[in-house]
Amino acid sequence: MRAYKAKSVERIELPDRGARERHLREAGYNVFDLDAEAVFVDLLTDSGTGAMSDEQWAALHRGDESYAGSESFQNLETAVEDVMGFSRIVPAHQGRGAENVLYGALVAEGEYVPNNTHFDTTRAHVVNAGGEPVDCPIESDPGDPFQGNLDTDAVRELASEVGAERIPAVVVTITNNSLAGQPVSIANLRAARSIADEIDARLVIDACRFAENAYFVAQREAEFEGESVASVAREQLSMADAIVMSGKKDGLANVGGFVGVRENDDELYEQARQRGILFEGFSTYGGMAGRDLEAMAVGLREAVEKPYIESRVEQVAELGELLQEVGVPIRTPTGGHAVYVDAGEFLPSIPCEQFPGQALVCALYEEGGVRAVELGELAFPGEERPQLVRLCLPRRTYFRDHLEHVAETFAAVGDRREELPGYEIVDEPAMAELRHFSADLQPLD
Ligand code: F0G
Repeated sequence: MRAYKAKSVERIELPDRGARERHLREAGYNVFDLDAEAVFVDLLTDSGTGAMSDEQWAALHRGDESYAGSESFQNLETAVEDVMGFSRIVPAHQGRGAENVLYGALVAEGEYVPNNTHFDTTRAHVVNAGGEPVDCPIESDPGDPFQGNLDTDAVRELASEVGAERIPAVVVTITNNSLAGQPVSIANLRAARSIADEIDARLVIDACRFAENAYFVAQREAEFEGESVASVAREQLSMADAIVMSGKKDGLANVGGFVGVRENDDELYEQARQRGILFEGFSTYGGMAGRDLEAMAVGLREAVEKPYIESRVEQVAELGELLQEVGVPIRTPTGGHAVYVDAGEFLPSIPCEQFPGQALVCALYEEGGVRAVELGELAFPGEERPQLVRLCLPRRTYFRDHLEHVAETFAAVGDRREELPGYEIVDEPAMAELRHFSADLQPLD
């Protein structure tokens, strides 16, 4: 059951089929180039795209826009301390700004950073700081409760291979976005803490979806059965020396982010603070307006309220169930923010080099004005990953009939799967890693 009701709404419209075909052609068969107005159900991302609560809108009016010493910053600091247990923060305009601040301070040339799986901006910032990102996911089976966990043995092996002194930080991303939004257990975070201590590295948690992760822990990890999401959220983050946060996810805000540092870690705090001033803005706003600080302060508290977080994670599961009912192969159990579809399995006649994921993304838009994102050969060239498509739910935004529309769209696409073309790239940017944002494609005959 949704734990909220609508108070302000936005009209959406499904353009007719001819218009959808034209929009897609004009966008170079790349849905990042579609006008949002031409999209009916937008499942591109959950980043900054959700609905704010009336309390958040009210808080916007209280924004203190002072350059230095803003009261809104103090409100955010208090909220982060109450909800996440970190009393010192360096604010940033969004998650990747916070990553630039933190990894630039932590990582030096020739060092290695293990992570359960790097999100793309995290990987880019580790590389930008001169480091080598190393993915250490566990091997898991479908149905396992904590498929997002870090393989701590792999971290230990890396340390003995390259030397523990060359690993400044071990990172755990909760939930594991690049691995289908799967959660990480507290037992695994404890093991991550031990290995970080063993090799004298800092333990960093990418906390973008910390509330969703805490909900899964409260549901699935026996030790935490019956505990409140708020207390699990604090417990899981208590393991970390530092956190990096995008307020656009579990901050329930449209923009914002920060780095959290421990009270006694003056060295890291000072380094991060100076980088924050250089790249983001003075240390009491960090690229956010005072009103954005207020909205995030309220959003963080709402994110760990059980009625909210339960309906959030349940809605993702509901979309997964509707898709399974019409025979769509998805990653199970569903993660916290998105349903991941195996496009290679759904469209077996389209070979990997013809981008089956992108073929599905294009067909979903043509068929039902649904926007999803490809996370296969187009987004990760040559990596031989499964050909996935992500359907990411904005928070507090869509209702059951929108989810049913998505499932009906999948069913209609499935009915004509033999007719669907593969695609080729006709224009792409110099950096192949960024091509899915801006490449132009065309359907093959
Ligand atoms: N870390 C993780 C795990 C993320 O999922 C993201 C963003 C970031 C860091 C960067 O945060 O966007 O505020 O700069 N993920 C979005 C997504 C973009 O669609 O998954 P940001």
